[in-house]
Amino acid sequence: MSRGPAHIRLRGELKTYRIAVIEGDGIGHEVVPEGIRALQAAAQRFDLSFSWQHFDWGCQTYLKTGRMMPADGLDQLRRFDAIYLGAVGYPGVPDHVSLWGLLIPIRRGFQQYVNRRPARLLEGITSPLSGREAGDIDFIVVRENSEGEYSEVGGRLNRNTDSEMAVQESIFTRRACDRIITYAFELARTRKKHVTSATKSNGIVYSMPFWDERFAAIASRYPDVKADQYHIDILTAHFVAHPDWFDVVVGSNLFGDILSDLGAAVVGSMGLAPSANLNPEGEYPSLFEPVHGSAPDIAGQGIANPIAQIWSGAMMLDHLGEKAAAHAIEQAIFHVLARSSVRTRDIGGSARTREMGEAVADQISVATVPAH
Ligand code: NAI
Ligand code: MG
Repeated sequence: MSRGPAHIRLRGELKTYRIAVIEGDGIGHEVVPEGIRALQAAAQRFDLSFSWQHFDWGCQTYLKTGRMMPADGLDQLRRFDAIYLGAVGYPGVPDHVSLWGLLIPIRRGFQQYVNRRPARLLEGITSPLSGREAGDIDFIVVRENSEGEYSEVGGRLNRNTDSEMAVQESIFTRRACDRIITYAFELARTRKKHVTSATKSNGIVYSMPFWDERFAAIASRYPDVKADQYHIDILTAHFVAHPDWFDVVVGSNLFGDILSDLGAAVVGSMGLAPSANLNPEGEYPSLFEPVHGSAPDIAGQGIANPIAQIWSGAMMLDHLGEKAAAHAIEQAIFHVLARSSVRTRDIGGSARTREMGEAVADQISVATVPAH
């Protein structure tokens, strides 16, 4: 589905991928180095190399310069094969300023219209849902990542008066609905052949019936894939009561965002949930980041779980076409969680971020290389 990057360099025998690294804020500074550690371990085993370039963009930069990233930020990133990001946002800068100053311009400018967020209950992890075991929960939230409820159409009137008001428009285009829903059906064909649509067409009377129409139109092209839909309210309940029902769940920007944090929670921790912001056509670099944010409540303590960041690195390798290396990182994560006692606080242990990262990197280095 995804194509490799257009500009792989050859240095001797090694393929070199140029990666832009944005640690961002908070625990981004702690988990990104562990992601890089794992990717370096995979590179050694699979005859690849990475050329990392770090960008110090984020809230600190904003406080110094008044910008989250330079005005030509996208031009600087354009020449990379992929972007590896930690998290953006920190107390002291309003969250809408930090998000709209960095992450959203990258997602939109680079047409990363797919936000792919897997939720999988792994061996060795206890779900907060009773009676659920590894393998019982395995779905992917496919979030529309370019429009929807996250729009710049709207405004504020009569600020600081009794008649103050805010208007925020949602944007749903046929082009963007069709491409994300099509992506979901194509993805389902590689999995359990089931797509669920998140809607709210009972309450939101223009955009959501339109979304439902487009879902039905695309579904009719995939007779081999089961299609169903739920209103978002009961869908959140089903995520808790029946997470085993789902395979691929497609939703608008807001619904997909909410569902993916819920997905992370039911599989044990925000610290385990990876994500990919994909430009499937490969015209622009794609961006790989954990679902979680900068976690100011634990930042600076060295206790954040780096697995979501490391796993996002595996998704990056997969997108770059390095399937075997991606698989090796995933297997190392699964092995460490299932077989070792190294675990961070959020999943019931006392290991530090670095210890968890080293355990995964060591496992990548010693594991048998699968045939490829
Ligand atoms: P958050 O995801 O940063 O934290 C929520 C809770 O999960 C916290 O209790 C945190 O300690 C815990 N958590 C998150 N990641 C963890 C990890 N790797 N290991 C262990 N525990 C972890 O969400 P919150 O608190 O709503 O947002 C904090 C900041 O991050 C805000 O500025 C927000 O705008 C930003 N944010 C950025 C995102 C991004 O860059 N993609 C996504 C979500 C939030
Ligand atoms: Mg979110």
